[in-house]
This record gives sequence, C-alpha cells and structure tokens, in this order.
Amino acid sequence: MGKDVIVACDFASAEATYAFLDKFTGRKPFVKIGMELYYAEGPAIVKEIKKRGHKIFLDLKLHDIPNTVKKAMAVLSHLDVDICNLHAAGATAMMQGALEGLTREDGTRPLLIAVTQLTSTDQETMERDLLIKEPIDQVVMHYAKTAQLAGLDGVVCSPLEAEKVHTLCGEKFLTVTPGIRFADGDKGDQKRVMTPADAKAIGSDYIVVGRPITAAADPVAAYERCIREFVDEE
Ligand code: C5P
Repeated sequence: MGKDVIVACDFASAEATYAFLDKFTGRKPFVKIGMELYYAEGPAIVKEIKKRGHKIFLDLKLHDIPNTVKKAMAVLSHLDVDICNLHAAGATAMMQGALEGLTREDGTRPLLIAVTQLTSTDQETMERDLLIKEPIDQVVMHYAKTAQLAGLDGVVCSPLEAEKVHTLCGEKFLTVTPGIRFADGDKGDQKRVMTPADAKAIGSDYIVVGRPITAAADPVAAYERCIREFVDEE
C-alpha cells in the first residue's frame, strides 16, 4: 500500500463531519474516525463515510481481554474499515485474538496497527503510575516488536520514531504518524512535530493530519498541500 494522508475528522457530530467532507469534490481523503465521533454517531457514520468513497481508519484503541477484543474486532471488520487499532499493552494473546476477529470469511481483513505508549505518557508517568522503569524509547520499540511478532501490520508513532521502528521491524512494518505541522503553521498542543515533507523523507507510511487541515481557511488547499509534500513524486 502506498503512502497516504489520513485526515483526522475530530468533529463532535455527523453534521459537522459531512459539512467538512462535502468540500472535497476531487480526491476523497482517507479519513480517521476517533472515539468522540464514533461514540456520538455509532456505526452509521462509518457506513455513510464509506459509501461516500473514503477509506477509513477507525481509531478506537481497543484494550480488553482477548476474547472480548476478538469479538469486537469481528464487528468492526464487517463495517468494512481499512485500518483499526489497539493498545499493544493488551499483550500478545489480545493482539492475536484481534487478528482472528478481524479476518473475514474470505480471508481478507483491515490492517491492524498498535498504539505503543501514548504520547501523553512521559518517562515520569510511566515509572510512577505504570511501574515501568526502562527508558521510554526502549519501551516503545519493545512494544512495536511485540506487535510485529503477534502478526500486526504496524504502529502509530511519532514521526521522530518512524525511522527507528523501520530499522527494528523492517520497511514493510507500517508507521502511521500524527504530530504533523506545516513549516509555517501553528503547532497547537503538539510538542514534537514534523512537516509532511520531512515525514516523507524519514519514511512514514501514513501521516495523520487534523487541525492543519480541519481548521484551515481552505481545508481542500491544505489537504492538497499535504498530498504534494508527502505523496507526490518530485
Ligand atoms: O489536529 P492534529 O493534527 O494534532 O491531530 C492529530 C490526530 O492524531 C488527533 O486525532 C490525535 O488524537 C491523534 N493522535 C496524536 N498523537 C498520538 C496518537 C494520536 O496526535 N500519539
């Protein structure tokens, strides 16, 4: 699968989401639906966005016992999403259960990627609250490797970690990277950011871009700029 720009549709309602997506009359963006929108609108929003011709990354970050995750993933798989995710902290049996649940009768399945450590967790939080003493970058790499050994397709990570993940897990192991900002843009609450062009140079497979597109005066132009910088050949 080639490189693509995934637009984080962090809207509170279906109405706001459709008003945003209606602007895209040419290329249909790959869309990320997160917990807020999914819990507000349910499976209907996934079906409708799919019907409109978009690919979908359903970002629900599952984390439960293997049997529960397996059954939940089977439901998501029938929604025909393209990428789903879970927490690698759920461990190997849960990740394997998720893969089983996702696999359809014809053998196809959505891509499955893992969240390693949330970027809201820093070294101090990890040591104090989770009793994990190792350096956080080692923990992130260990979780990535564990996800790969369980059979997953990749991880969500900072673009600053993408190169290391590829070195450890190989070029085919996908890196999906949020924290993207234009060189002349506002960083907002993201601390460690990279431009689409730099994310491309470092080998990210997919960039996840929210506010630089959703809050732009001209979202379609901002999306096209991301495509030019990240996807198009020079
Ligand atoms: O608006 P912005 O470009 O910062 O949006 C980034 C998207 O990626 C949001 O949906 C955010 O929740 C998500 N994300 C992130 N950092 C992570 C994981 C997910 O920013 N580590």
